[in-house]
Amino acid sequence: MTTHDNLDSVDAKITARNVFVYYGDKRAIDDVSIDISAKYVTAFIGPSGCGKSTFLRTLNRMNDTIAGARVEGDIALDGVDIYKSSMDVVQLRARVGMVFQKPNPFPKSIFENVAYGPRIHGLAASKSEMDEIVERSLRRAGLWDEVKDRLADSGTALSGGQQQRLCIARAIAVDPEVILMDEPCSALDPIATARIEELIDELRGNYAIVIVTHSMQQAARVSQRTAFFHLGRMVEYGKTSDIFTNPREERTKDYITGRYG
Ligand SMILES: Nc1ncnc2c1ncn2[C@@H]1O[C@H](COP(=O)(O)OP(=O)(O)OP(=O)(O)O)[C@@H](O)[C@H]1O
Ligand SMILES: [Mg+2]
Repeated sequence: MTTHDNLDSVDAKITARNVFVYYGDKRAIDDVSIDISAKYVTAFIGPSGCGKSTFLRTLNRMNDTIAGARVEGDIALDGVDIYKSSMDVVQLRARVGMVFQKPNPFPKSIFENVAYGPRIHGLAASKSEMDEIVERSLRRAGLWDEVKDRLADSGTALSGGQQQRLCIARAIAVDPEVILMDEPCSALDPIATARIEELIDELRGNYAIVIVTHSMQQAARVSQRTAFFHLGRMVEYGKTSDIFTNPREERTKDYITGRYG
């Protein structure tokens, strides 16, 4: 594995060390170590089946919900082991939010989609505080102007791109520290995709953001750090500009130039 040495790791939000993931006796992630910074957007790239989603899910323990999945190794958030037995997983998933490939709003109103998390975490003391959280989250997700007059409509009645921004608003509403996105634009048209990419850029710096993408152009546009995965291993990790212009590993070069994938 090549980790470029010109990375500043002092501000790592998440540190993963020697992580292995198994589904039954099949190994899907093989000895991955990475520091994920709070300052940057990190892209995970690599061919289908290489383990990007699997590794992403280890970062907020979503693999816990998959029967037969087993995680070994160390993953810490702000230096605290997230796999320790006393970890409150509901709390963890509020701190490390997730946005999925297919927008999955709850079958509830737009307002309730955003208010749900703050309510279960007790973040609003009054109706007006909740209104504020919902408005602020929708504004940050770039959706407020489009939905402010129809907050009582169902979230599922929005367009795909709007639904994805609603899901981002829902993730933001609980004030996360990290946002994990697994191919968040793959079901969207180019205009909705551009909107989400702009949004990622606006959110950068406030949250550590990790995005899985099959689009090299998207990784190059939105991320400052890129990790290339292949067959369950992290082959190379560095500044996005270095990975795309000057990869050190042959397999990275082959992938980004489209020789396989
Ligand atoms: N729930 C599961 N049960 C068993 N095996 C799984 C499960 N999920 C993933 N795998 C296997 O683990 C490996 C990594 O899969 P993963 O979904 O993480 O890849 P990926 O890089 O996200 O691929 P894609 O780009 O197609 O989304 C694959 O071999 C896959 O078949
Ligand atoms: Mg995947």
